[in-house]
Amino acid sequence: MNIKIKKIIPLDKFIDKSLYNKDYGYYMKKNPFGEKGDFITSPNISVLFSEMVCIWIVSLWKKLNKPEKINIVELGAGNGEMMFNIIKTSKQFLFFKSVCNFFIYEKSPYLKKIQKEKLKNFKVNWLKKLNQINNGPTVFIGNEFFDSLPIKQFIKKNNNWFEKYVDTYSKNKKFIEKKINIKKIEKKIGINISKDQKFIEFSPLMFQLIKEISNIINKKNGGLLIIDYGYFNKKMFDTLQSVKKHKKTHILNNVGNSDITHLLNYKLIKEVVKKFKLKTNGLTTQRKFLIKLGIIQRAEIISKNVPFSLKVDIYYRLKRLIDNKQMGDVFKVMFISNKKINFKLGF
Ligand SMILES: C[S@@+](CC[C@H](N)C(=O)[O-])C[C@H]1O[C@@H](n2cnc3c(N)ncnc32)[C@H](O)[C@@H]1O
Repeated sequence: MNIKIKKIIPLDKFIDKSLYNKDYGYYMKKNPFGEKGDFITSPNISVLFSEMVCIWIVSLWKKLNKPEKINIVELGAGNGEMMFNIIKTSKQFLFFKSVCNFFIYEKSPYLKKIQKEKLKNFKVNWLKKLNQINNGPTVFIGNEFFDSLPIKQFIKKNNNWFEKYVDTYSKNKKFIEKKINIKKIEKKIGINISKDQKFIEFSPLMFQLIKEISNIINKKNGGLLIIDYGYFNKKMFDTLQSVKKHKKTHILNNVGNSDITHLLNYKLIKEVVKKFKLKTNGLTTQRKFLIKLGIIQRAEIISKNVPFSLKVDIYYRLKRLIDNKQMGDVFKVMFISNKKINFKLGF
């Protein structure tokens, strides 16, 4: 599918159009999840993943002194698999379940439809805007959410900073660079993002959403759990990638037909969070997080008294989630809360 506009546009606008244009955007017309799709996410690999997330939320609720009302908001729910299993697992904790309000914040009308069908037997509300939440502590969960937000890239050359743009005029789309004033951008966001960097990836939308989430958490308590591809080092590098049928493709080709993601720089997120007066309570790998929550013991329990082939499948899927060569290390987990909370479960 060809991008419809003929323009020179900043990289983040290009990504936004490729993924979310209402006519040809990648997330607007097909279900990319699963072995047969373009990629597979943790909730679609094993139900154990969402069970661990649910147990983590129940424990946080206890830490918050079991409030009589708690909002659980999934950011970008894909095919609805994680929310489905979180609600199902919450039935094991009846009092907790009775005080929960479940919400999904989803941009794609196409995926919203799939989510509504999947969750039709549960009470879930879809949020148009995050600030619709104005009552009670709120726990935000984003699995592979922030990595799907559009980013800008800035490059330093001979002490000058340039922003990456995409030229969609020419038949073969190409990247071009435009000189920018990085100080002006830094003043606007209030963070010195260029310090010790030669290359920057920055998502204005991520910044805006964390700002909105921080407002809610600061006022009403709760937290934000991020589970996503990413790295801890301060030094940033080019992490943009495009994936089709589980294989990497070129980002400028296959517009609308391949996913575009990047790795989160958790150091930068930490700075953004600090700016909005929240703190990071913990930062670890998916492997450590899931093991601390008891995923191996849970696999042992559910694989008792089942046929051997099912047992093999349970452990095969578990390995995909926690093996350091698979999703165990490249996925990181971060918990963000207000300064009063000290909750380290899983970290
Ligand atoms: C990579 S998918 C992950 C889906 C799911 N969390 C999972 O783990 O299977 C990203 C999800 O975030 C949604 N999304 C991306 N940008 C969004 C935005 N700005 N607001 C709301 N949802 C968004 C996408 O439509 C999609 O549902």
